[in-house]
Amino acid sequence: MSSRAPDRWWRSAAIYQIYPRSFADGNGDGVGDLAGIRAHLGFLADLGVDAVWVNPWYASPMADAGYDVADYRAIDPLFGTLPEAELLIRDAHDLGIRIIVDIVPNHCSDAHVWFKEALQAGPGAAVRELFWFRPGRGERGELPPNNWRSIFGGPAWTRTKNPDGLPGEWYLHLFAPGQPDLNWENPKVREDFEDVLRFWFDRGADGVRIDSAALLVKDPALADFDPADPPHPHPFADRDEVHEVYRSWRRIADSYPEPRALIGEVWLPEAPESFVRYLRSDELHTAFNFDFLGCPWTTPAFRKAIDDGIALHAPVGAPATWVLSNHDVIRHVTRYGRADTRFSLGYRQLGAPSDLALGTRRARAAVLLLLALPGSAYIYQGEELGLFEVEDIPRELRQDPMFHQTGGENLGRDGCRVPMPWSGEAPPFGFSPAGATAPPWLPQPAAWTAYTVARQQGEPGSMLELYRSALRLRRREPDLGDGPLRWLTAAADVLSFARGDAFACVVNLSRTEVALPPHRKIILASAPVTNGMLATDAAAWLRTA
Ligand code: NOJ
Repeated sequence: MSSRAPDRWWRSAAIYQIYPRSFADGNGDGVGDLAGIRAHLGFLADLGVDAVWVNPWYASPMADAGYDVADYRAIDPLFGTLPEAELLIRDAHDLGIRIIVDIVPNHCSDAHVWFKEALQAGPGAAVRELFWFRPGRGERGELPPNNWRSIFGGPAWTRTKNPDGLPGEWYLHLFAPGQPDLNWENPKVREDFEDVLRFWFDRGADGVRIDSAALLVKDPALADFDPADPPHPHPFADRDEVHEVYRSWRRIADSYPEPRALIGEVWLPEAPESFVRYLRSDELHTAFNFDFLGCPWTTPAFRKAIDDGIALHAPVGAPATWVLSNHDVIRHVTRYGRADTRFSLGYRQLGAPSDLALGTRRARAAVLLLLALPGSAYIYQGEELGLFEVEDIPRELRQDPMFHQTGGENLGRDGCRVPMPWSGEAPPFGFSPAGATAPPWLPQPAAWTAYTVARQQGEPGSMLELYRSALRLRRREPDLGDGPLRWLTAAADVLSFARGDAFACVVNLSRTEVALPPHRKIILASAPVTNGMLATDAAAWLRTA
């Protein structure tokens, strides 16, 4: 069966990530919303993406920008209403765009009805079993139950007050205090999430992106451990029992006439063999490949990430995925313009100087590489405009819990979440309608005048036109998307590979221009090609036969 067959769309799709707070503001309150997304679906269809993944849009107090979900079956009023979400899915489908919703199963919000009931009911109540409540250590229970640290910084435990107002038990939160971890040992948690999946699949969602997919199951012993030398199995990451959860989710996804796709955020950088177990044929369809995202701008690093990524996926028959940026990482224009171009979550290097012209040249080349690789590819909103990381957001305006929980030591992720510039010469750059009552929720840099959609649309040589051309060509080229890749002989520091018999992609990461291999035609190039020479930090797609 062709990888382009409708029920295998996820094997080849180009998927656009919408961060709803920052995409487009329909009602003028300074925060993006569903009305804004609906109004710009034409832009996405024109861009040529196959699917859209929308970050959480559910009812939430927004302790972590919506990754703290109070009600998985309701849309937050900040974003709109459930009927609007249904219309959005319908409108997207009418334009041939699939919709992926974000499911957050590891934790919910402290405003979720279960958690509120658990607090009210007090110690010993059955509803507390839906979470990880424990008495504290120390004489009066004043110390956290163990030494686990929150991924955002600080302890992974917060002490509660009993209904009588006295200090009570502690609860576990691997992320912010407003994100209590759910207890996946409890059948009620499992049943409820299966129902949530059906809720969204019944409303037409074509797939789900699963947040923090490897963290759900905890060792109930909740013992101390040394994070530098964790035991095996790990007390909360990648425990065997989590696979049973995804097997049951897969049965649900497969029960639909057009099977729904399960896409895991499985961040296990040290354990590729564990990562791929999530992609066995009765579990998830695909998972984000963060190795490629973290690659420094060097040939050996990319070559290894590509080879390893493909080899890793082959035994389970799952397609690889490729991604350069998302709402948690420093935008790649900024990363690629630095002296040190690596990225990992623990190595953010915020504030390191960046040559944005260099980063932009490399980002242009990188998208031709991304979209030529075998499998599916993700595009994070704004990268098609060449947006850079906004690093000078005033501290008092920063919202990310990562910033606040580290006492500002880690500047966090706000810099890649700044609202999109659509048009005009000054903020809000068309993000909010004329007459908006509030400024964009994060300030946009004045320099974005030159980055708006309106400015780039139809402008030969703009980043937006490069993305549009590449996405349209990718759709038409039968050998792109899922399928084999064959490396071609190339000069040092040049990546050159064929897809099928008539298509090649060449990326020049060397310090000098290089001659393109024999070709019939240049289909697309990230920089002008003169006399068959490809410039440094440029890429080209070639018709070779
Ligand atoms: C991963 C999400 O991508 C990130 O934005 C969020 O903060 C954490 N999971 C917690 O839900």
